Amino acid sequence: MRILVLKDHLSGETRVAATPDSVRKLIAGGDMVEVESMAGMNAAIPDSAFAEAGAVIVTNREKALASADLVLCVRDPGSEALAAMKKGAGLCALLNPYNNKALVEACAKAGISAFALEFVPRITRAQAMDALSSQANLAGYRAVVEAAALYGRAFPMMMTAAGTVAAAKCFVMGAGVAGLQAIATARRLGAQVTATDVRPAAKEQVLSLGAKFIAIEDEEFKAAETTAGYAKPMSAEYQAKQAALVAEHIAKQDIVITTALIPGRPAPLLVSADMVARMKPGSVIIDLAAAQGGNCAATKADEIVRTENGAFVAGFSNLPGRIAADASALLAKNLLNLVPLLRDKESGAFSPAWSDDIIKGCALTQAGTIIHPAFAPAPALA
Ligand code: NAI
Repeated sequence: MRILVLKDHLSGETRVAATPDSVRKLIAGGDMVEVESMAGMNAAIPDSAFAEAGAVIVTNREKALASADLVLCVRDPGSEALAAMKKGAGLCALLNPYNNKALVEACAKAGISAFALEFVPRITRAQAMDALSSQANLAGYRAVVEAAALYGRAFPMMMTAAGTVAAAKCFVMGAGVAGLQAIATARRLGAQVTATDVRPAAKEQVLSLGAKFIAIEDEEFKAAETTAGYAKPMSAEYQAKQAALVAEHIAKQDIVITTALIPGRPAPLLVSADMVARMKPGSVIIDLAAAQGGNCAATKADEIVRTENGAFVAGFSNLPGRIAADASALLAKNLLNLVPLLRDKESGAFSPAWSDDIIKGCALTQAGTIIHPAFAPAPALA
């Protein structure tokens, strides 16, 4: 099949959906690969590297879209690109469908089959396609690097002839993929790390990384995990108890990294304006949930806010994009692993395996019809 790797146009998007390595492997699998000129520019991949790998570099976006069987990009390609696509063609990207229902409808209108990487089920077979994890891992790392850059002090304890520099105290809220990597990175830099989560399974993982676990561990906490391994929304009573515990803790922290998310819902508010006001001058909050509304009341997406008491609150909405070369390499690998489920084994044509659980999980539309249960219109009552 004919695969087109688009240059992402969303503001601040620096990643690309392929690498020379993934292009080589797609071609070895029988595909013809076109890459839009400058697609890898911000991820340190020049057109020449894609061309050397065997890709055809295209400059006429509309023409390439009209003939591609499968379009790969990082995020929403925009309505113009959708409209220019061949009817029946496929689109694979981080489509953020819960927050962008208009895009799901636009894919249907364009008559294409759209696959949202966020919805790839978290089953063992799909681990190598799990873009949420690959990107969250890098986001967790990058959050600590950003915090270290904003913080006017050092992370590790240092004993020098001129005096002792104290270790930074770092609190990670939400110990999923991003949070665990943030804990590991902050520990490597020498910070004293504590962490919290509402899922009991997270406690052991936090302890295994050498950090302390801080949470109200009541009966509700013990049951707060879905079968898919995600957090459940917590009751108002639990949130109040946990907030009181956290408030005391945050006032003593230098760095707070928030990563708490509940799929399909706005991010839970974990750090109130009062908690921010009690933080030390120079302390730093990095809010990884900024794009979903933020875990901190003071967060503004894509801004670094300096509060009255001198704390920094950073709401980078695309942290993987701030480590674009590695994030692109992992995302390209995730896509490369998904493509065989979209290609007919015999003919090599674009032909999604509609009955496969992974495709069932991530397909939003099938040749113009919305099929994902989260978006498909409810069947009429008899
Ligand atoms: P996520 O990005 O949806 O959420 C991040 C973290 O925030 C989660 O750990 C969640 O429990 C936590 N959180 C939610 N509400 C909170 C609150 N009010 N206070 C504190 N923390 C809160 O989750 P992510 O990182 O995608 O992973 C969720 C789980 O799925 C983890 O256990 C992870 O290990 C597991 N997982 C399993 C995979 C597999 O089996 N293939 C692949 C990737 C992750």
